[in-house]
Amino acid sequence: MTHLIVSDVTLTFGGLDALSHVDITIEPGIITSIIGPNGAGKTSVLNCISGFYHPSQGTIRYGNRNLTHASPHQVSNIGIARAFQNLELFRGLSVLDNLLLARHQHLTYSIFHALIYFGKASRLEAENRAYVEKVIDFMELELYRKSMVGNLSYGIQKRVEVARALTLGPKLLLLDEPMAGMNIEEKEDIVRFILDLKKEWGITIVLVEHDLGVVMDISDQIYVLDFGVVIGSGKPKDVASDRTVIEAYIGEE
Ligand SMILES: Nc1ncnc2c1ncn2[C@@H]1O[C@H](COP(=O)(O)OP(=O)(O)OP(=O)(O)O)[C@@H](O)[C@H]1O
Ligand SMILES: [Mg+2]
Repeated sequence: MTHLIVSDVTLTFGGLDALSHVDITIEPGIITSIIGPNGAGKTSVLNCISGFYHPSQGTIRYGNRNLTHASPHQVSNIGIARAFQNLELFRGLSVLDNLLLARHQHLTYSIFHALIYFGKASRLEAENRAYVEKVIDFMELELYRKSMVGNLSYGIQKRVEVARALTLGPKLLLLDEPMAGMNIEEKEDIVRFILDLKKEWGITIVLVEHDLGVVMDISDQIYVLDFGVVIGSGKPKDVASDRTVIEAYIGEE
């Protein structure tokens, strides 16, 4: 069971601290949500964890590995995948091709090696397809497998984005506003997927989400950011009654 520990992380852009001395512990097997007003630094935390940005100060550790200066590829190789706030899909390709490509790119290195032994490569290819099929089945995307992503509704595209991250077979999944712009039924579907990923797939979830109803409902642990600083953390009921947190949200309105 591996903990992800963000310790004293500061991230500076041109003299401005997007994150300031942030401490966050992601416990395995649970849903940890990161909430806060627009511009609070939620995506920046995910960017630091996934290797897209490197902290100016502090460390990020996953078990006994130091991820502070790891590349996105290294981070995904150790089992941390991310669904992006802005979709990272090829709009001109089908759902199936997007997912196969994502899994393929992730495994390029091992496939290259396996090519030396053709038998092994074709077995790997079959395994890849089987895994992608499992993801399509789980995310209930059968109906859209041949559809071009650019032609799908925004809600379904968001679902494909989560599926894309899942094809990497992560132990830890970072979700950046997976329900943004969705209607109630679409949100309920995503909530169900997230809960099943935790319970049935044993995946640790980090959720960035603006819908506080959903967050309070499904999170085991919550961190609240405001202006790059952690202003509160704990179980949903503790966070919901925290004065500083309430003020940060009222201040936003
Ligand atoms: N690449 C960048 N260059 C300069 N400033 C940045 C960059 N990325 C983020 N910031 C700044 O860092 C702060 C935190 O941004 P971030 O995107 O992490 O917020 P967020 O909590 O995800 O907001 P939202 O809810 O709107 O998605 C903001 O002030 C933002 O303008
Ligand atoms: Mg964001």
